[in-house]
Amino acid sequence: MPINPDIERTLAAERVRDDFVPVSDYISADFQKLENERLWPKVWQVACREEEIPNVGDYITYEIANQSFIVIRSAPGKIRSLYNVCLHRGRRLTTGHGNALRLHCNYHGWQWNADGSIARVLDREDWDGCGEMTDSDLQLRETLVDIWGGFVFINMDLKAEPLHKFLDPVPEYLDPYEYQKNALSLLCDLPPAKQLEGGTGGI
Ligand code: FES
Repeated sequence: MPINPDIERTLAAERVRDDFVPVSDYISADFQKLENERLWPKVWQVACREEEIPNVGDYITYEIANQSFIVIRSAPGKIRSLYNVCLHRGRRLTTGHGNALRLHCNYHGWQWNADGSIARVLDREDWDGCGEMTDSDLQLRETLVDIWGGFVFINMDLKAEPLHKFLDPVPEYLDPYEYQKNALSLLCDLPPAKQLEGGTGGI
């Protein structure tokens, strides 16, 4: 559905201001549609923390706009972001988080390795057109992935500027805080009593 021209004109007139964000930016369906078309497919965004997926096969699913991604540690030093879409008929492959060295589609049983390569196509020759497809045709689609301060960023735009350029100059100011060492899980793992001491300077 095309964007209402009046809304488009209003948005164009109200370019980003540093002193005011109109309520409509948060609640307008048209604004959300524009974000889904023009912002989220282009921008670096935080999908998870590195420590959330420490072991090979650990994954989380990350949802944004109408897309879903599997952010998975496919090898000890490698994190990938795979489109959470079966290449057969577009079904979601998984939800939530977990550990999987193989991703299964529960519909017809196709399987992929953690690096997105095709592992198994059940009765391949029975699927129309599938017999001629190469394994690279059946590789799960990926986004860009990069890490800063322990935050795992993804970007759907394969031609996006590098993360360090996108973040500049933020790292210059925040690198001294060593966010890569300040694992969120450290706070979460503290006993409740210890966390409550925060108000008196305990944390
Ligand atoms: S829809 Fe996934 S294997 Fe058929």
